[in-house]
Amino acid sequence: MKDTLKLAKHLAGLGYGSRKEVAIAIRDGRVTGEGEGLRFDGEPIDPPHGLVVMLNKPAGFTCSHADQGRLVYELLPPRFEKRDPKLSSVGRLDADTTGLLLFTDDGTLLHKLISPKSNLPKTYEARLARPLEGHEAALFASGTLVLRGEEKPCLPARLEVNGTHTASLTLTEGRYHQVRRMFAAAGNHVEALHRSRFGPMELGGLAEGDWRLLDPAESAALRA
Ligand code: URA
Repeated sequence: MKDTLKLAKHLAGLGYGSRKEVAIAIRDGRVTGEGEGLRFDGEPIDPPHGLVVMLNKPAGFTCSHADQGRLVYELLPPRFEKRDPKLSSVGRLDADTTGLLLFTDDGTLLHKLISPKSNLPKTYEARLARPLEGHEAALFASGTLVLRGEEKPCLPARLEVNGTHTASLTLTEGRYHQVRRMFAAAGNHVEALHRSRFGPMELGGLAEGDWRLLDPAESAALRA
């Protein structure tokens, strides 16, 4: 009985339901295995701390717990919203931007990843309204590009031109609307933006709207 109460408390803290709901699930045999092999309805139980989730964000979802409209958290299982400590997005993508977005409940990791000192490369695929002119890569790499309304120049960023209207831009900063504002400063306009890489993580074959947990090796690579 004591063990069941302990297990119910543990699972409730991971968002699997209220203590009562979880106790009923245990009674009904929906919780199997033990220790690291614990399963709920046959699926491995989420790790208790240090959860890191990767989402391929579709357009039209906001990175916020509170905004109006559709939120990225709706794309994750409801149990993640009930976890304590809470799961937060690692930085933000604009509502119109698609691609790689991480979430974690690990505050130390979160601050490390979003710190301006982290220097983590982030790669964005941009589709542009006008043809690239050829001067953009040098401008973005120069370390002298000052965005409108700012004083401090952007750190050097790497542009790879993929087509007349398409390019990949790798930044180590995360200023507000940075990619869109950099192309605006170069006289262009971003029509579509997709993040394909965040530090050591790439989206791989994760379909739009899908999420997955990072495995321990991937989480360790992010913490390194
Ligand atoms: N830069 C942008 O302009 N938007 C994003 O969502 C991310 C980077």
